[in-house]
Amino acid sequence: MKIQNSTALVTGASRGIGRALVGALLEAGAKRVYAAARDPGSLTGLVEAHPDRVVPLQLDTTDRQQVEAAARAAADTNLLINNAGLLSAYGLLTTPPEVLEREFATNFYGTLAVTRSMLPNLEKSGGAVVNLLTVVSLASMAGLGGYSASKAAAFSMTQALRAELKKRGVAVHAVFPGPVDTEMARDLTLPKTSPEQVAAAIVEGINLGEEDILPDPMSRQVFDQWKRDPKAVEQMFAAM
Ligand SMILES: NC(=O)c1ccc[n+]([C@@H]2O[C@H](COP(=O)([O-])OP(=O)(O)OC[C@H]3O[C@@H](n4cnc5c(N)ncnc54)[C@H](OP(=O)(O)O)[C@@H]3O)[C@@H](O)[C@H]2O)c1
Repeated sequence: MKIQNSTALVTGASRGIGRALVGALLEAGAKRVYAAARDPGSLTGLVEAHPDRVVPLQLDTTDRQQVEAAARAAADTNLLINNAGLLSAYGLLTTPPEVLEREFATNFYGTLAVTRSMLPNLEKSGGAVVNLLTVVSLASMAGLGGYSASKAAAFSMTQALRAELKKRGVAVHAVFPGPVDTEMARDLTLPKTSPEQVAAAIVEGINLGEEDILPDPMSRQVFDQWKRDPKAVEQMFAAM
């Protein structure tokens, strides 16, 4: 689908990639962007800068009532960007089970719940769903074992939804960023891409109809290797 004249909804728009996506969508000609955040107060600056095109929404993707209310309030959405994500589960042998559950609640179940709730209009409008995954959806990094597992589950979900929704006229895109310079990656010492660059690449990938969007140099390198030799990616991440 084309971004021009679309009506988009971005989850996790308070900061980081989500906030940059709102800007990139506006720049690419979206008619309206629903900026969804757990704390709508975090959206004040965005809304003030674009009062006619940015609509704030309260949305914790793990809260069923808020998911249903957001779907009703943003029923004209034809581009859903599931960006909200959590990184709090590290080693699988040391992370408390309740922390792992929270990670899956946002990264897997929340993404699925929001997608299901928005389907009626996505189908009616021949729209698109975009899921923010990560290079560690492709192979696990042990130090991020809980996060990797939840994002691998989200990748599997993305593939299943792509197959099911293709027949129903809805495109499903996956995005596999490497390290991005946001709050989530603040402790990571690897080179990072800016959220604005990643957002611009995502918007371009949607416009081009790319199923798998690789928004930075590391994502392109890892994805290429994974297509040729998935075991090599597992081994590379195991050594990091
Ligand atoms: N940064 C990276 O290196 C990197 C790399 C690959 C993929 N990603 C993925 O890109 C996406 C955006 O990450 P980011 O780097 O922008 O991280 P970030 O700066 O930590 O932002 C995460 C966003 O998700 C929101 N969020 C978390 N749990 C939520 C929930 N249950 N309901 C609604 N919103 C929730 C946060 O809201 P609050 O402000 O309320 O906390 C925040 O807006 C995530 O899916 C992440 O996994 C990031």
